[in-house]
Amino acid sequence: MSLAILAIESSCDETSAAVIYDGKILANVINTQSIHEIYGGIVPELASRAHQQNIIPVVAKALDDANIKKSEIKAVAFTKGPGLLGALLVGVSFSKAFALGLNVPLIEVNHMQAHILAHFIDEPKPAFPFLCLTVSGGHTQIVKVNDYLEMQVIGQTQDDAVGEAFDKTAKLLGLTYPGGPLIDKYAQQGNPDAYLFPNVEMPGLDFSFSGIKTAILYFLKKNTQADPDFIAKNLPDLCASVQKTLIEILMKKLRKASLETEIKEIAIAGGVSANSGLRTAVKEEAEKSGWNFYIPKFEYCTDNAAMIAMAAHYKFLKGEFCSQDVSPDPRMAI
Ligand code: KG4
Ligand code: ZN
Repeated sequence: MSLAILAIESSCDETSAAVIYDGKILANVINTQSIHEIYGGIVPELASRAHQQNIIPVVAKALDDANIKKSEIKAVAFTKGPGLLGALLVGVSFSKAFALGLNVPLIEVNHMQAHILAHFIDEPKPAFPFLCLTVSGGHTQIVKVNDYLEMQVIGQTQDDAVGEAFDKTAKLLGLTYPGGPLIDKYAQQGNPDAYLFPNVEMPGLDFSFSGIKTAILYFLKKNTQADPDFIAKNLPDLCASVQKTLIEILMKKLRKASLETEIKEIAIAGGVSANSGLRTAVKEEAEKSGWNFYIPKFEYCTDNAAMIAMAAHYKFLKGEFCSQDVSPDPRMAI
């Protein structure tokens, strides 16, 4: 078939380029912007500027790693949304120019669909239909995946994303951004039952995480007033307890979704699927409930262009291209 596609991801704070050849990933270069750490969160303007600086060297390295010449590329794919407007704009503009220069078609990709299609990069691959819990810094969704490009959101957060809950709690605990991986690390040495945080029940398959963030804020205020070293003395227990609460909220809805749809093919995707506690919880539930479960390799959980390339591969096969008039869609839905 000799189908080589170059894919670009620039929706948030990772500048990434990948090359896929006949459905196999040959290169996946990721530059994670470190400039945001000192601000305790992503600064959109700085993200755009860093993408501009990174994109050419990242693409050059991807082509080099893949040992592919520009003349072999049959299409250029990019993340259209959802994401930060300025950040997306860099990837979209670069892709348009690159495709125009090579005289090849453009493929627009939905970032959330791509997180799910990361499951098709390596074996074992889920069978259709499957359920995917997509958990990232911007999204928390349960998606019924009927086919590669046919997906239906059956539950989602009504306020904060679970990744945001991890990151904002981490900030309250004095940890650097992004705090999710640090909470995960400290939680491994802590007691998950040390503290109890309220768990707001949402109707159906929806989620809410803003209440828990506020509850933690007041809990920490009260305790640090009594003892200024409260956080330092109890960091592992605090991390373990917060992580347990967040995972329980996710698992409850995932179990409910599986029962309601009678689907036992269960996948997780997105940055928070790198969380070791969530991975263990899904594995344990799979044993109990007879699920076949799927978790992508670590490097394909957080933002990367390999997943964009995978989505682009299926879109190419269906002839789904877009025009040079395309613009980013920061709020793009599945
Ligand atoms: O998918 P992703 O890379 O970017 C978005 O599209 O948002 O997800 C990033 C999110 C951040 O909130 C980060 O803290 C979280 O994923 N994350 C984790 C872990 N690794 C990344 N959260 C909890 N535990 C982890 N190990
Ligand atoms: Zn993402």
